[in-house]
This record gives sequence, C-alpha cells and structure tokens, in this order.
Amino acid sequence: MFLRFTAEAEAKIATKSPFFNGGGVLMVFEIFIFAQLLQDSDFMTNPKRHLITAALPYANGPLHIGHIAGGYLSADIYARFLRLKGKEVAFICGSDEHGAAITIKALKENTTAQAIVDEYHSINKKAFEEFGISFDIYHRTSSELHHQTAKEFFKDLHANGKFTQQTSEQYYDELHKQFLADRYIKGTCPKCGHEDAYGDQCEKCGSTLSPLELKNPKSTLSDSTPTLKSTTHHYFPLDQYEEWLKEWILKDKKHWKSNVYGQCKSWIDAGLKPRAMTRDLSWGVEVPVAGAEGKVMYVWLDAPIGYISATKQWAKDNSKDWKDFWQSKDTELVHFLGKDNIVFHCIIFPSLLHAHSENYVLPTNVPANEFLNLEGDKISTSRNHAVWLHEYLEDFKGKTDELRYVLCSIAPEQKDSEFTWADFAARINNELVAVLGNFVNRTIVLTGKYYGGSVPQSNNFDDTAKEVLQQLSDLKQQVEQQITAFRFRDALQAFMQMARLGNKYLADLEPWKLQKTNPEAVEPIMALANIITASLAIVAAPFLPVMSQKLKAAYGLQADFKEACREELLEKLKKVDNPGLLFEKIEQEQVTAQIEKLNARKPTSKHMAQKQEISFDDFTKLDIRTAEILEAKKVEKADKLLELKVDTGLDQRTVVSGIAEHFKPEDIVGKKVSVLLNLAPRKIRGIESQGMILMAEDESGLHFVSPKNNTENGSIVS
Ligand code: 2FM
Ligand code: ZN
Repeated sequence: MFLRFTAEAEAKIATKSPFFNGGGVLMVFEIFIFAQLLQDSDFMTNPKRHLITAALPYANGPLHIGHIAGGYLSADIYARFLRLKGKEVAFICGSDEHGAAITIKALKENTTAQAIVDEYHSINKKAFEEFGISFDIYHRTSSELHHQTAKEFFKDLHANGKFTQQTSEQYYDELHKQFLADRYIKGTCPKCGHEDAYGDQCEKCGSTLSPLELKNPKSTLSDSTPTLKSTTHHYFPLDQYEEWLKEWILKDKKHWKSNVYGQCKSWIDAGLKPRAMTRDLSWGVEVPVAGAEGKVMYVWLDAPIGYISATKQWAKDNSKDWKDFWQSKDTELVHFLGKDNIVFHCIIFPSLLHAHSENYVLPTNVPANEFLNLEGDKISTSRNHAVWLHEYLEDFKGKTDELRYVLCSIAPEQKDSEFTWADFAARINNELVAVLGNFVNRTIVLTGKYYGGSVPQSNNFDDTAKEVLQQLSDLKQQVEQQITAFRFRDALQAFMQMARLGNKYLADLEPWKLQKTNPEAVEPIMALANIITASLAIVAAPFLPVMSQKLKAAYGLQADFKEACREELLEKLKKVDNPGLLFEKIEQEQVTAQIEKLNARKPTSKHMAQKQEISFDDFTKLDIRTAEILEAKKVEKADKLLELKVDTGLDQRTVVSGIAEHFKPEDIVGKKVSVLLNLAPRKIRGIESQGMILMAEDESGLHFVSPKNNTENGSIVS
C-alpha cells in the first residue's frame, strides 16, 4: 500500500506529521492518525471515481488464455473489488477494429474488413461475457461515435500546432495504386536472411525492421516489386515531450511495477523520435484535415482514444457525464494491458493527452503484466499453440471460476510465467476442491445435519474463536492491501489463507466428535464456521464471482466488503441451504485430452518437411480436374463431414469431405474447386465418396484450391 501514495496524499500526511507540528498529546493523536492513514488505502488516492481500462483487443482473431492472464483478469478483479467497496467505477473495453492486420486478413479471406471485425467483435464480446469479465461497456472503434471522437481529438492537436509534417519515400504498389503499410511488404530479413520477413518485423529472428531495410521487397497485395514514392504524414514530435516524461514517469512514478517502469526508462533513455500519426490506408479513421485526403489515423493513435469514445457511449447510456471520468482530477485512471502495449500507454498516449488543449486525466498506474507461456513454449496464434478461451468455455462448461483461479494464481505479474494442464488440474484439485470447497461443504453439511440449516446464533466466543476472528480480519485486510497494490496473486493467496484458517479451526476442534458429548459447545464453533464461510463468499467476489454468488444465495446474504470477517455478520446469517459441491475434481483424462489437442495442432503443414520424392510417372497418374460444387449437406452424426455433389466436367459425382467444421454447406455451393478424380472410391459413413477435394491449410484455416477466373469444369490440372 505504500506504493500508492499520491503527491496529494504525501502532502496531507506530511502536514499531519508530528515532525511538522510539535509534540505532546497532539503528537500521540497524530501518530494515531498517521497509522490510520497507512491502514486506509482509500486515503492514498481518495479518488471520487475509478476509470479502469483494459487494452482493446484486435477484432481479427479469438482470445486465448495469454490475453486473459495478460490483463483482462486483473482488470476485472480490480473493478469488481472497487465495486464491492461501494466505489463508482467505469470499466471500459471494446474491439480495436482498425490496423493493417485486419485488412490483410480480409484480403486473404476474400472478404471485407468490416465483415472480419463484425465476426470477431461478437465472438470476443461473447467469450468475455461468458468468462465473467464485467466490463461496463464493450465498445467498437468502427462505430460512428468513435470516428467522431478520434477526429475531434486529432483536430484539437492539429489546430494547436502539436503535429509536424514530414515527407518521406515509402513503398507503393503500382498495380493496386496504393501505398503499402509495413505489414503489406514482405522481403528478406537483412539480419538473418529469412525470406518471409514483414516490413516492420522479422518473425524468425524477432528484429524490428523498417520496410526500406528489407532485401528484395514484394507487395503482398500483388506480389510485384513496389516502387518508392514520396508521401507526407503528420508526425507527433515525441522528442519534445522527453523532459515532461522524465518528470512525469521517471521522477513521479517510481512506485510503478518494476517491469513497467524499467521499460519506460529504457525507451526514454534511448531518446524519443517523432512518430507518424497517419497512414496511407483506406481502412481506419479518416484524417480530418485538409491536404490529408485518403489517409487514415495510425491505429495506435485511434485505439486508445477508443477508451474515451467507449466511456462517452457508456455515459450516454447511463446518464453520466463522460468528462467526470476523463477530465476531473478526482478520477483515478488505471490502464491494464500486456507488456507489448506498455510504450503506447505509458509514453505515447499520455503525451497525446498532455498535448490536448483540454485537461485530460493521466493514468495513476499502468500495472502491465508480462507474458504467459503454455506447456513449455510461447503462446502463438500463427502456430495455433494456444488455449482459446471459447474452446475452454466449451470443453469446461460452467468452470469459469476454476480458470480464473488458476490464471490469477500464476499471473505473469513480474515476469513471464507458465500454464500447464497438469498444474491447472493440481491447483483445482488440491486447492479449490480440497481446501476451499471442502471447508465450505463441511460447514454447510454440518449446519444442515445439526440444526436443519439454521445457523446457531451463539456468539459466546472463547479466546480461540476470538483469535481466529482476528486472523480472519487481518487476512481480509491483506486481500485489500494486495489488490490495491496490484498484487493479485498475493491477494488470492491471502483469500485462500482464510479458507485454510477455517479448515484448521474445524479440524482442531472436531465438532463432529463434540456433538456426541457436548452439543452446546458445538454451537459457537458452527456459528464461527458460518461466519468464515459467509466471509469467504463476500471476499471471493472479485476472484471467484460464480462461487461467491452461489454461496451468498445459499445464505440469502447481501453484504459489502466491510461486513465480512466480523462477529456482527452472524446476525445476517439465519439459514443456509446446501448449494451442492462448489468445485469438482479435474480428472487425468481431461488433462490428457487437452494436451493431445495441443499436440495434434503442431507442426502445421507449413513447418512439415517435404515428403518423399516421387517420379514424373507417379505424378501423371493423378487425374486432378477443375470442378464446381453443385450441392452440399451435412453428413448425419458426423461433425466434420460434408456430402458434396460436384460437376467434374465428365460427370456429377458424390465426394465426402472433412471440411464441415470450416464451411457452412450454403456458403460453398457454386464454389470452383480442384478434385482428384481417380482416387479409389471408398465408403465413408455409408456414403460412397468418389474423389477428393483439394484443400490448403494454413494458420488461418482451410482454403479451397480453386482455379482462378472461369476455368471450365473438367479442365485438367497439371
Ligand atoms: O495489442 C493489441 O491487441 C492492441 N489492439 C491493443 C490496443 S490497446 C488500446 F490502445 F486500445
Ligand atoms: Zn530475421
């Protein structure tokens, strides 16, 4: 908690300090006040309201557990905790729907950027909801309100001379008549010779590149060699903010997490350069100033403004004033994100906010996490080495608290950490089931057995019970202190200590034995056990919201954080219904199935070695022809299979193809395809399949090998 002293709080403490005011009774009183201030974390910042943001994920792919552990879960715990404390909170997120990665995906999939972002916005919104991430709004940067907000922001900076303009030579695709964003250019990496490096980065050696450094550059749009053409862009002169940043971060934010502070320091120490804030693209927020027609705002300028536009939308929907959240010094702004986003949230966006003519709130803290690895390897979208959130929710129905528990326990708060399925099972079985679930279950079952579910109201607690209550209250305080210092792992550990304390109390006193000899003595024991259980229900709310809700419902309990872990809570606990087992064991077969699922995905065909050599004669034996899909339908009771009728030019025949998980039947009728005709027919699920449709698979999925143009059905592919 010492970490969160604001300058304001420090000043208040200083003026109240005995060292400033003298001695005597006043001094004793003030030492007391000082101690209270240290206890009460609210005083540290004492904000009227809390604005919490979680990085807007790109809407071009699904979410995986690395995203969740990288920031969304800690943001959610923080938001839920503040709400539990009765604070005013706006928890903001949404889809980042611009940027070249999205247009490239659209191009690859022969669709539009809008279609891509529509699809993933709803997939990700749903997955977050199902997982219990309690955003107050999940907005979109393709919305009208966002475009308008981002344009106003740009115009303000422009009108106040905060941009410079620079003309430079950039690659241009003559065939497509457009400038090429860095990601649209591929070529040979000058550092390692990898032939498929992008204009901004080589994925093989990890070097950050500029497109002009690539050897043999090619446009990914047309595969042609791009030409150099001059173009003018608006730049934000970050170098002019260096002195301000040294003061604002390096001097005043020494209490930030060391991984965050360290990264900021190395950027600033290396010297900041002007950054281009516009791009020659057609997808994004149009640059709203004369002379910049056809250009859009840089995605990393428009995305963080997405926090502001989302807040505006939320405020409008909830009769609030967005300016209270963004332009009032009584607001605490905290950004949650993964380490790859630190520079944007700690250096670039704050400088932009600082440059704006209105007084924007700057982040009080940016508790960014490092990365989560998976089964000994980096999580990788392109290699499909990931636990996808939507798949987890499908495979482990209703087990959201379990994943929250494990991901919080291993959160990469200071350094990269690792998720393994064996560890997932061990933590659930040995901690959630054996400690927390066991204690709660024992308490409720015994209360049912001895008192028909009525909680005994015996508060004639002996010294042992009083000591337990004190320890319980200390642990609750630790939970609070750790959460407000953004140490969520430690907070969760303190919470679990509360359950351990309860377990030990019952194990030491063995009320099940005492009930036979001295049932009266059991009543205060069970009263305290119920106080502990109900306190767990309250304090669990930020971490394990489903369990918390279930348990509160079992008691019919409504109570806030300050009521937990106190003797008085007993008065609110009249009856308890048995909610059933809170957590189930994870079986070894479930672990094995998940590991097999990961293994089955690697290596992708791209990484597979070339197959054994064949002769030309072997090749000529293959009769591959162009064809057209006439009809398509699902094969009954086979999730993966489609039954297709194809026109091969020679005949119309049936082919059974394992593509049902990738294509809907109605979407592929009329599709031109290539078919291997002379494959020996075979029966699949009772249907005779006469050939094979050729497919190509890459990280984005399955694609038909289709002839271009209107090739006649039956044309030989050779
Ligand atoms: O890294 C990403 O996924 C970005 N879309 C994060 C943007 S955060 C904010 F600026 F919107
Ligand atoms: Zn390289």
